[in-house]
Amino acid sequence: MGKILVTGGTGYIGSHTVVELLNHGYDVVIVDNLSNSKLEVLNRIEKITGKKPAFYQISVQNKEEMRQIFQKYDIDSVIHFAGLKSVKESVEKPELYRSNNIGSSRILLELMEEYGVNNLVFSSSATVYGVPKRVPLYETDPIGGCTNPYGQTKVDIELMLNEYAKTHPQANIAILRYFNPIGAHSSGLIGEDPQGIPNNLMPYITQVAVGKLPHLNVNGNDYKTVDGTGVRDYIHVVDLASGHLAALKKLEEKPGLVIYNLGTGKGTSVLELVHAFEKANHLVIPYVIAPRRPGDVDENYANCDKAWNEMHWKAKLNIEDACRDSWLWQSHNPHGYDED
Ligand code: WQD
Repeated sequence: MGKILVTGGTGYIGSHTVVELLNHGYDVVIVDNLSNSKLEVLNRIEKITGKKPAFYQISVQNKEEMRQIFQKYDIDSVIHFAGLKSVKESVEKPELYRSNNIGSSRILLELMEEYGVNNLVFSSSATVYGVPKRVPLYETDPIGGCTNPYGQTKVDIELMLNEYAKTHPQANIAILRYFNPIGAHSSGLIGEDPQGIPNNLMPYITQVAVGKLPHLNVNGNDYKTVDGTGVRDYIHVVDLASGHLAALKKLEEKPGLVIYNLGTGKGTSVLELVHAFEKANHLVIPYVIAPRRPGDVDENYANCDKAWNEMHWKAKLNIEDACRDSWLWQSHNPHGYDED
């Protein structure tokens, strides 16, 4: 069986997916430019799985360097995580996000076509749905109307993949729309390691818990939700990783282009997550109610029936598991992957 090329494989979701791939007998090659991850992740992957995947520090935008990988390895499938993903930064640097995220995906498709690699799993996001008209969200709901350039790049890449599939009947592409990934591997050896002040809720909570930040700012408590705070569909990153293996299996059926929501189908509010974290870890998370964050929606959660019906995949871990695993990671790694 050929190799699985994982772009962005030292990142948060990438590393958890590589662990599942190796534990299920796949051969993995990682390319990552380390712009938002650390080489130490490879050592942790080896500690967990007993295997160290081939790694190349390459930007997917560098076509000639990427060509070397396609020439050197018999690649069976590509899982494409690599990309810039900060909503906030994308508003400040929209052109950088367009050239990096869309440009690298285009180069990947060109090389896949040139080297006859037919299988691609693409890391998309629930952000492509823009401001939801209603919840839960279905894969057939319209995409676009994104509130930020990052989300728009995901829409543009999905459209590019649809075009590619139309002109390449031999291509099998799984677009996976992630809702809100949280949690960490149960070993506590890998986890989310955002640079600077975290934008996302769970890493912010764990940095408050470990004493790096004084308190949590709850962005708004006047939303039309159960307790006024934002509701999201938080999926454990290990469940998300297993969703990628289910997608690889699905592509063996040669389905053409398929799209799946990867979530739990359940909404959880900010305060519900905070209280679940406190209960699971016997900790108190101080918080203050702060103004709404521009672009935030009241609630956003998935209908995941399609992933179950067509891939027999569904999330198995719950919010308490994720709160416990996130804290295990952060308490064992107060400075993330940096040396203490
Ligand atoms: C969740 C809830 C905030 C931080 C983003 C991206 C999305 C995807 C996941 C990449 C919201 C509230 C947050 C804080 C808070 N990423 N919050 N205080 O915005 O749903 O989605 O991350 O694909 O594309 O848009 O996730 O974790 O930032 O926020 O109150 O310090 O927590 O208002 O209600 P979001 P988030």
